[in-house]
Amino acid sequence: MSKLILRTSNDAQRGSLACVGMGMTLGSHLTPLARSHIEQADVVFAALSDGTVEMWLQRMHPDVRSLQSYYAEGKSRRITYQQWVDLMMFEVRAGKKVCGVFYGHPGIFAWSPHKVIEVARAEGFAAHMEPGISAEDCLYADLGIDPGRFGCQHFEASQLLFYERRIDPTGYLILWQVGLVGDLSLKRFSTGPAYRQVLVDLLSKDYPLDHEVIIYRCATLPIQKPRIHRIVLRDLPDVTLTAEETVILAPASPLKPNLAMRERLADLDKEYSIA
Ligand SMILES: C[S@@+](CC[C@H](N)C(=O)[O-])C[C@H]1O[C@@H](n2cnc3c(N)ncnc32)[C@H](O)[C@@H]1O
Repeated sequence: MSKLILRTSNDAQRGSLACVGMGMTLGSHLTPLARSHIEQADVVFAALSDGTVEMWLQRMHPDVRSLQSYYAEGKSRRITYQQWVDLMMFEVRAGKKVCGVFYGHPGIFAWSPHKVIEVARAEGFAAHMEPGISAEDCLYADLGIDPGRFGCQHFEASQLLFYERRIDPTGYLILWQVGLVGDLSLKRFSTGPAYRQVLVDLLSKDYPLDHEVIIYRCATLPIQKPRIHRIVLRDLPDVTLTAEETVILAPASPLKPNLAMRERLADLDKEYSIA
C-alpha cells in the first residue's frame, strides 16, 4: 500500500542542513549515511584537505561549492569561518537542502559546522551533524594508542600557551595545530621555530627535554602510508611541521595510586559485603 505524504507549500520550501565528515582517507572513510546526505542535498559546500578529495566529491553531486578560496594569508580565520556559516545559511534560508562536507569529523577542531548548526536550529531549521573518522581515530590505529589505558588529553596547541591549563603527564598528550602555535592574529598559515620554542619551554615543566615526541600525519590518499616521525622534545622547534600534522607525547611518569580513594572504596566493599 503506498503512503500518502501530505506537504504544505511551506514544508516544500523549508531549508535544512547536514554537516557531515568525509573522514581522513579518500575513498575509504566516508560512511553510507554521510554519502546519502551528500547525494540528497540541493547544494553541497566543501572544506576538504586536498583538491583530489574535492574532485572525488564532485563525482557525487553536480553542485559542489568549495570553501577553500575564502582562506587567505593575512585574513583572520575568524572572518573566513563566519563567511562559511553565512554562505551555508543563505542557501538554507532560501529553502535548500544544504550539506556541508568537512574533512575528518565535522565537529572536531572545526568552528563553522558547530556554529552553522546552532544558527540554523535557532532559526527553526532542521540541522544535523553526521560524524566522520578524524585524525584522532586514525592516530589511535596507526600508533597503537588506546586512550583508555592512561587517559588522553587533547589541546589546541595555542590554547596551551594563551591560557593556564593543567597538563597531566601520566596520560597521553595530543597537540593539534602545532604548525600554527602561538598565532594570536589567526591570520597566518604557520608560525615557526621561535613560537614552537615557547611551546617546548612550557612543556619542559612536565616533560624532560629528551622525552619522545611523535609527529604524525595520517594518510589522506589511499596510496599513502601514515607518516610517523619520532624526535625528542628539545628538537621540536627545528623540524619542518605542516598544517596537517598532530603531535603526540606519551606519558612521562607512572600513574600514582590514590590511596585515600582506594581506602574509601575498600570500606564500601566491606559495607556491601563484596569479597
Ligand atoms: C582544523 S583541524 C581539523 C581536524 C579534522 N576535523 C579531524 O576530524 O581530524 C586541523 C588539525 O587536524 C590535524 N590534522 C589534519 N590533517 C591531519 C593528518 N592528515 N594527519 C594528522 N593530523 C591531521 C592537525 O593537528 C591539524 O592542525
